[in-house]
Amino acid sequence: MVSSLLLCVVALITILVTIWIRKWRNPKFANGTLPPGSMGLPLIGETLELLFPSHSLDLHPFIKKRIQKYGPVFKTNFAGRPVVITTDSEINHHLFLQEGRSVEMWYLDTFAKLFNMDGESKPTGFGAVHRYVRSIVLNHFGTESLKNKLLPEIYTFVDLTLQKWTNQDSISVKESVASMVFDCTAKQMIGYDSTKSNEKLSEKFTSILQGLMSFPINIPGTAFHRVLQESKKITNMIREKINEKQKIPNKTDQDLLDQAVREMRTEAFVTEDFVVHFIFGALFASFESISSTITLAFKLLSDHPRVVEELRAEHEAILSKRDKSEEGSSSLSWDEYKSMPFTLQVINETLRLANVSPGLLRRAMKDIQVNGYTIPAGWTIMVATSAQQLNPKTYDDPMAFNPWRWKDLDSSVISKNFMPFGGGMRQCAGADFTRAFMTIFFHVLVTKYSWVKVKGGNKIGRTPFLDFGDGINIKVLNKE
Ligand code: HEM
Repeated sequence: MVSSLLLCVVALITILVTIWIRKWRNPKFANGTLPPGSMGLPLIGETLELLFPSHSLDLHPFIKKRIQKYGPVFKTNFAGRPVVITTDSEINHHLFLQEGRSVEMWYLDTFAKLFNMDGESKPTGFGAVHRYVRSIVLNHFGTESLKNKLLPEIYTFVDLTLQKWTNQDSISVKESVASMVFDCTAKQMIGYDSTKSNEKLSEKFTSILQGLMSFPINIPGTAFHRVLQESKKITNMIREKINEKQKIPNKTDQDLLDQAVREMRTEAFVTEDFVVHFIFGALFASFESISSTITLAFKLLSDHPRVVEELRAEHEAILSKRDKSEEGSSSLSWDEYKSMPFTLQVINETLRLANVSPGLLRRAMKDIQVNGYTIPAGWTIMVATSAQQLNPKTYDDPMAFNPWRWKDLDSSVISKNFMPFGGGMRQCAGADFTRAFMTIFFHVLVTKYSWVKVKGGNKIGRTPFLDFGDGINIKVLNKE
């Protein structure tokens, strides 16, 4: 009697679980056809496959395999969310232009909690506040600031750093470049001087970044708990800086925080909490991508000496064109910076291959029709720009590092198939700064220094973010 009852219970549970799995795998949607694809296992979806590291610079296999199986638009589920991934350049271009109309910015729960967004993007991401954030970042990192102030500052920063590297037996490129870029952008943002600080802020940010793709479970011992602890220390430090600046304001804006603190008195939404979270996010946005891209550049340049030769020739030609009064100038002028076509090609080619992140996340605000399918309102969309940048139909032999290819690419093709900085009204506010930083870095590197690879660089992969495995170590030498 007991055993048949037990059998019934087991059978019932099995039936319920099977129905649950079937429902999970085939979500019902009355208003149209969902894109093809699998929702994976209940609750975890296909997260594990997405996080499974690949060992090549090529498109992450999660995306590559699904394009082959389902075509350019497919559904999946990760981190407990239904997601549509689109790799089609026309659709992606269109979605970027739909910001605020049919799509809005959205981050996974981990990002959302970290940036205090309570799991959903808030109206703070849009409208007046968004315009404010863009304009304050552009004010300190945009073209005018680069022209009037930043080029020589970046030059000095880079030169001092490279000089320090020559004194070391070898440097680990990713960590050293990350620390250099962080210290430079944090100076512009909050007046941070790494030489006078007891705490290495760049290391705290790196550690947070490593825990970001974790599940958002906040209990001691979890990666996410550690992320929250570290981020609290940083937000406290930013709060202290705000208080210092409120007590003794600088007469003119020396950094971005000076401006924000001044505007706390005039703009209702610019509260202390807002500034803390915005600065935290901006520090984040600014250093990881550039440092990964420059690290990849070291690897690619080390493997392609002909590119280094042409790069060096371009930069030496600039120095030799200077008249007597400019000789020995310890920076690049704006005109010089704007006359380096090959350097720009090297930067584009590095950004194309880097794809630091597999794509950008959005949330459908209403049902969206694409290619005969419907993306339901509320679903997450991953605009997989990485797939566009490695598409063999656009880029011949896409995995080859070939800066010369940019001479022949049509500008209309580039605008829809090269989106390292995103697109539309959310396009990266640090794009010009990034290009200038990389240009000056290359300029100083090839005109004053040389380097040899010591070890590493052979385990580049995607996690799905660009990852350098056991890293790359180089020895930097003075040129003479
Ligand atoms: C290689 C370097 C960089 C890459 C590849 C990169 C990439 C991106 C991308 C793809 C977006 C769009 C995000 C989206 O639409 O969801 C973005 C936005 C943004 N980036 Fe960057 N970024 C880089 C460097 C920087 C730097 C150095 C700064 C600051 C100085 C910066 C500040 C921002 C800001 C403020 C936004 C938000 C813009 C908005 O919402 O209007 N980025 N970045």
